[in-house]
Amino acid sequence: MMKVLRRSQALRKALDPYRNKKIGLVPTMGALHEGHLSLLRLAKKENDITVASIFVNPLQFGPKEDLRRYPRNFLRDKKLLIKEKTDFLFAPSKKTFYLTDFQTSVSVKCLSEPLCGASRPGHFAGVATVVLKLLNLVRPTALYLGQKDYQQFRVVTQMVKDLDIPVEVRRAPIFREPDGLAMSSRNVFLSETERKEALCLVRALKLARSLTAKGVKDCRRIRREMLAVIKKAPHARLDYAEIVDAATLEPVVKLTKGRKALAALAVFFSKTRLIDNVLIKG
Ligand code: PAF
Repeated sequence: MMKVLRRSQALRKALDPYRNKKIGLVPTMGALHEGHLSLLRLAKKENDITVASIFVNPLQFGPKEDLRRYPRNFLRDKKLLIKEKTDFLFAPSKKTFYLTDFQTSVSVKCLSEPLCGASRPGHFAGVATVVLKLLNLVRPTALYLGQKDYQQFRVVTQMVKDLDIPVEVRRAPIFREPDGLAMSSRNVFLSETERKEALCLVRALKLARSLTAKGVKDCRRIRREMLAVIKKAPHARLDYAEIVDAATLEPVVKLTKGRKALAALAVFFSKTRLIDNVLIKG
């Protein structure tokens, strides 16, 4: 039976008997899809106990972002988690999670600035803060994050290292629809036309990967070719297309042997912002 906990102290208490067990934490904002479930399955495989959290974290949304319209479907999510044999679900309310005098923010400086951080100021401080709070409550052995939010993975990994948090951060591959679109809770907002055009992201990234496989090292060229693919989608509005170092997230000009890079994209379709990425090697 999955136990649902609504309050931080109740979660702590419920986990007390399992302190000598391996605990896997899968933090989510709900509206679960196969990508989330793949994280849970990995957590389940690698731990004795799995804890999922559902909390649409207001701290990581900007004033003009989609906090209010972010998809929420608690009952459906709960059913899916039960089906995956999740042991604990933590689903706090905003009021009990962030008390009225809450005022702390954790910021991971350089890694939060480029890519999504440039168009979403404060976003990664919001993510780091909520993840640190969840880590302190659950005290898991391992934390599971998806590769789609690669920058989030890097920010959290750096925070864990900088603050000596005793947890292993695990990254699971991007889960895709059969036609290649990266799964996202926000995909439901796409119109039929936008849904078709949204494939430009995965097409551009595939092109980036095949160019590097052919030995192209010039990142400006790879970026140009990625942009050309995005431009072919009439309703796509580019936020960014970048090739960055996979560890520092700093721009890469030329791919070199052994250096891991990340081709990353963010594209708007109307108000819906989609992201996707692929790791490439020189
Ligand atoms: O990836 C997400 O869904 C969120 O950013 C996370 C990690 C649950 C923090 O709110």
